[in-house]
Amino acid sequence: ELDAAEVREIAEALRSLDGALLPILHAINDRFGYVDEAAVPIIADVLNLSRAEVHGVLTFYHDFRREPAKRHIVRLCRAEACQSLGADRLAEELDAALGTGTDATVETVYCLGNCALSPAALVDGKLYGRVTTDSVLALVRR
Ligand code: FES
Repeated sequence: ELDAAEVREIAEALRSLDGALLPILHAINDRFGYVDEAAVPIIADVLNLSRAEVHGVLTFYHDFRREPAKRHIVRLCRAEACQSLGADRLAEELDAALGTGTDATVETVYCLGNCALSPAALVDGKLYGRVTTDSVLALVRR
C-alpha cells in the first residue's frame, strides 16, 4: 500500500524546483520502485496542478513504472528456432498460468543465442534451454 505521507513529503521537498513534476515523479519511482496511481492526486495538490496534468506526464514518459515490479521475470525467446519448437504455445500456456496475481511476468525476446537448445528462456537472468511450461513454472514458483 502507498505511503501517502511519504509521497507528500517527497513532493513538498522538491516542489520549489523548476519543473518540479518530473523530479518528483523520479524520486517517487526511485523510492517505491513505481508510481502508484494514488500518488497522482497528492502530487497534483502539492504542485497546484490538475490530476489530468500529473497523469499526462506520468503516462507520457516511459521512465516510470506504473505497478510494482514482479519478483520473477521470464524472458521467453520467440525467434525462429524457438518458435519452430513450440515457443508460441509455451508463451500462451505461461501467460494463462501466470496471469494476474502471480509474482512473475513474461516478456518476449528474440534469440538468446541458445538456439541449439530451443525453446530457450531467461528466467531471472539465468539461461535455460529445452524449457517446458512446467519447468518454467517450477522455477518461478520456487
Ligand atoms: Fe531462440 Fe535463438 S531462436 S535462442
